[in-house]
Amino acid sequence: MDSNRWPEVRHVLGVDQFDRPFLDRICLLTQEIRELCDKPDGKRLLKEQFADRSAMLYFSQPSSRTYTSFKRACQKLGVDIVDVRDPNTSSEVKGESKMDTIRTFSSYVDVIVMRTKEQGLAAQAAAHLDQTPRPRPIVNAGSGADEQPTQVLLDIYTMARSFKDHGGIDGKTIALVGDLKRGRTVRSLAKLMRHYHDMMLLLVSPPAFRMQQDILDHLDSHRDRVRYEVVDDLRAAVCRADAVYMTRVQDEHDVDGESAKVSINDFCFTPEHLTLLRPEGVVMHPGPRRQELDLRCDDDPRVKYWRQMRNGMWVRTALLACIFATLGKERKERRR
Ligand code: NCD
Repeated sequence: MDSNRWPEVRHVLGVDQFDRPFLDRICLLTQEIRELCDKPDGKRLLKEQFADRSAMLYFSQPSSRTYTSFKRACQKLGVDIVDVRDPNTSSEVKGESKMDTIRTFSSYVDVIVMRTKEQGLAAQAAAHLDQTPRPRPIVNAGSGADEQPTQVLLDIYTMARSFKDHGGIDGKTIALVGDLKRGRTVRSLAKLMRHYHDMMLLLVSPPAFRMQQDILDHLDSHRDRVRYEVVDDLRAAVCRADAVYMTRVQDEHDVDGESAKVSINDFCFTPEHLTLLRPEGVVMHPGPRRQELDLRCDDDPRVKYWRQMRNGMWVRTALLACIFATLGKERKERRR
């Protein structure tokens, strides 16, 4: 393993920091690490890489996939883990500011992976730590309804693998379905599409959950690479799509129970939609899945939901490996 060839990564805050070479390299590294772990020697080698390193998993919002996959990623790299999953168990309840809490964590670990309900908190924490004598990298594992940059990496990796024999991601039509207004994964994914050529996004949602104007403006400013259409009919979108990306209603962001008044019956993917999807098409979902992706679809090889969450562990292993390798280089530089 030659970590000198790995992309240099410090903070991972939002998708704006990713460019196409980075996306391609992280997919390749993920694949390399995965293949390495197929062999017992490779597994051992990986575990020895960062055995003196540690990470904090600070998840003040619920999480199953992201938390567990980051934890397993750390374990695969031999990294020690500390976690806080309930802010009621940290000194925040005694009135400590978020920035002091995060700076406290930075005293004990090398990297902080954090998920919060507050939009922009990861970026604020990164800027804050950069002013301190221990500027530890921050990884945004989800910030409010805003961004989910590491989810998008695994989505890209899943698509790259799925379309490997069909020309890759370039030129594909992707239907984003569900709560596009508040779904941070679809917002992040839509933004990243500008790094691919000739993309078409079909935005399929009830009127109340339409993609917000900031993302549409972003897409408009990259219309040489990404075009989009707002489509009301899920069946029509499925007939055209190479990938259908389903999302749940993000009702945790409701102010007044407004989601309950919106019917999503016409935006649920069922076995009938599978009959409309092309043979090399894929169905994705960031999880957690509710009724919008029918359980009866799971056995179809085009449904990548379960594979996608497993890919998350490998992509996060690759990403953390890059961060720890970058820290190692910085340490060497300082010693010179
Ligand atoms: C997503 C999230 O939390 O942003 N889930 C995940 O991380 N896999 C999507 C969601 O909760 O709907």
